[in-house]
Amino acid sequence: MVSRAWSRARENPTSSEILHENKMMQLYYATRDGQSRRIADHVSRRLGERGVEVTAKNLAVDLPSVETLTSTRLVALIASVRYGHHLKEAEQFLTRYQSLAAPPPLVLASVNLTARKQGKDTAEGNAYLRKWIARRQLTPVLATAIAGRLDYPLYGWLDRQMIRLIMKMTGGPTDPRTTVEYTAWDAVDRFAWAIADLALPSE
Ligand SMILES: Cc1cc2nc3c(=O)[nH]c(=O)nc-3n(C[C@H](O)[C@H](O)[C@H](O)COP(=O)(O)O)c2cc1C
Repeated sequence: MVSRAWSRARENPTSSEILHENKMMQLYYATRDGQSRRIADHVSRRLGERGVEVTAKNLAVDLPSVETLTSTRLVALIASVRYGHHLKEAEQFLTRYQSLAAPPPLVLASVNLTARKQGKDTAEGNAYLRKWIARRQLTPVLATAIAGRLDYPLYGWLDRQMIRLIMKMTGGPTDPRTTVEYTAWDAVDRFAWAIADLALPSE
């Protein structure tokens, strides 16, 4: 009986539950090929284990309102890079976030292939993330770069040729049949736990 009531509550959260979740934190991602979504979902699961219930939301379909952003205590953004730039919905999100009079603390993660290299997985070492933070004058409480996925068979002809060229220049695989997931899931775990520490009210 109790467990049925519990599962009903999970399926149909009450408005106060939703408010509670929104207040604690919000987690957003911007993706084209799905890797940032996988990373955001992984972070969401790890946060859930620490009692921080948050659903990862796709910015391409759910750009949050100013009211939503204002009412939360922490926001996290996980966004991928294509041809040197973070996806446009991530930029739109940051424009809205930066329009707030008192924005909540920001957690930032950049997903790209450069981050597969040692030392290029930090806010200082990863040029995309470093430049993004500088250009936008952001002050994230936590920022990291996460290695993404290389999936030549998934790409169209031109993208495949372009990425092969980049890989050739940076010592990566060029065989067009290659699929490699470079994402270091243990690093994603540590990222999630650090977010949990920020989201949970300190005792
Ligand atoms: C068309 C295209 C362009 C890319 N451009 C870059 C790039 O400029 N620098 C980089 O480090 N990775 C680049 N990548 C790698 C992606 O960032 C990586 O595949 C990432 O996992 C994609 O995340 P997503 O699936 O969430 O979109 C590119 C990938 C594609 C398909």
